[in-house]
Amino acid sequence: MSDTIIFTVRPGGSLRGEIRVPGDKSISHRSIMLGSIAEGITRVTGFLEAEDALATLKAFRAMGVEIEGPDEGNVTIHGVGLNGLKAPETLLYLGNSGTSMRLLSGLLAGQTFDSVLTGDESLSKRPMRRVTLPLAEMSAQIVTEDDGTAPLAIAGTSALTGIHYEMPIASAQVKSCLLLAGLYAKGETTITEPAPTRDHTERMLEGCGYPIERVGNKVSITSGHRLNAVDIDVPSDISSAAFFLVGASIAANSSVRLNHVGINETRTGIIEILKLMGADITLINEREVGGEWVADIQVNSSQLKGIEIPEHLVPLAIDEFPVLFVAAACAEGVTVLTGAEELRVKESDRIQVMADGLQQLKVKAEPTPDGMIIRGGEIEGGEVISHGDHRIAMAFAIAGLRSKAPIVIHDCENVNTSFPEFVSLAGGLGLDISQTNG
Ligand code: S3P
Repeated sequence: MSDTIIFTVRPGGSLRGEIRVPGDKSISHRSIMLGSIAEGITRVTGFLEAEDALATLKAFRAMGVEIEGPDEGNVTIHGVGLNGLKAPETLLYLGNSGTSMRLLSGLLAGQTFDSVLTGDESLSKRPMRRVTLPLAEMSAQIVTEDDGTAPLAIAGTSALTGIHYEMPIASAQVKSCLLLAGLYAKGETTITEPAPTRDHTERMLEGCGYPIERVGNKVSITSGHRLNAVDIDVPSDISSAAFFLVGASIAANSSVRLNHVGINETRTGIIEILKLMGADITLINEREVGGEWVADIQVNSSQLKGIEIPEHLVPLAIDEFPVLFVAAACAEGVTVLTGAEELRVKESDRIQVMADGLQQLKVKAEPTPDGMIIRGGEIEGGEVISHGDHRIAMAFAIAGLRSKAPIVIHDCENVNTSFPEFVSLAGGLGLDISQTNG
């Protein structure tokens, strides 16, 4: 365990105030990728200045794209067109970022140069066959470790061919990877998804004037068109807002306004689940900004109740379960999550790591192969380990709002991958959190 940053949260308190959480991570990644291969200048505002999105930015700089910024969320990308990327001189190191690695594998498979994608310890353990197998069907040449993990050595080719692929798992990363490969493949690439997943890639391709066809759960793309640079206003990340949606729900006397949050319907599972649990959440000023829906969100304290989480909401809240488990621990009654085995292959095994931590805090949490059963009740204090997983660290910080004694959270440095301002923003709203260097 590398233990460079430790959070200590003192119990109790309320969350009150109005904030704008940082930019959406998924959209920030895609703004760099599509802006780089578009023709013309893309001006991005609201870009997430956190390690994951910066890993993507650096990768494109290493492939010869001139990118100015980020400067207070402003990034200017001088697009090189679909065929303008240059061979990187070094390995492309993508840190903790699964989105960078999986999407880039598709985009780079169709280049005329070779590349190698590497990542940190966590990313090097995550399954990559979910992208390399369908890419191989498209004639991509990618070598992985024997167990299908990174590094990914990609031999460029101009001979990709379109396929019709039925995704065995609901994954926006796999879908986006294949769409990006499809930009370079002969003929049509069609992807069918078993359940709706975030569609930011599709929306941004359409926004850049690239024709795609979307019918039901199928999306098709054909090579031979171009992307036009457009300005991109990145909304706040609902996955970061989620910590305050839960925090203000579970803490007494709380009232928080979260401004300019992305509410794309493929991302709002957290709101639907919390509402089913009895949360007091209202969307205000719903509006469309550059092809994505945003709203200001008002959330007030409420007594949550345990529910059986509908399985169709799982992909729509896939990143929010660590903090939803904390909500369940504060709810009256039992909450049951099923159909969420994907949580085991995120930045950490989020089922096991959250169950271990909750049990450490004396919460009745029972992990199952595909989810968790949590009986709401009291949360004691104690020490927990995030296992280098940003969302686990922040979820346990939020648990402090209802714990009976301090919670010390180890291994929190990766909060910087998605939400570097978490401690200051949460502290400003009323969470009694401090950070020390271990
Ligand atoms: C993401 C898709 C999701 C999500 C990840 C970001 C994306 O992963 O968990 O944080 O930007 O496409 P999967 O597609 O693997 O579920």
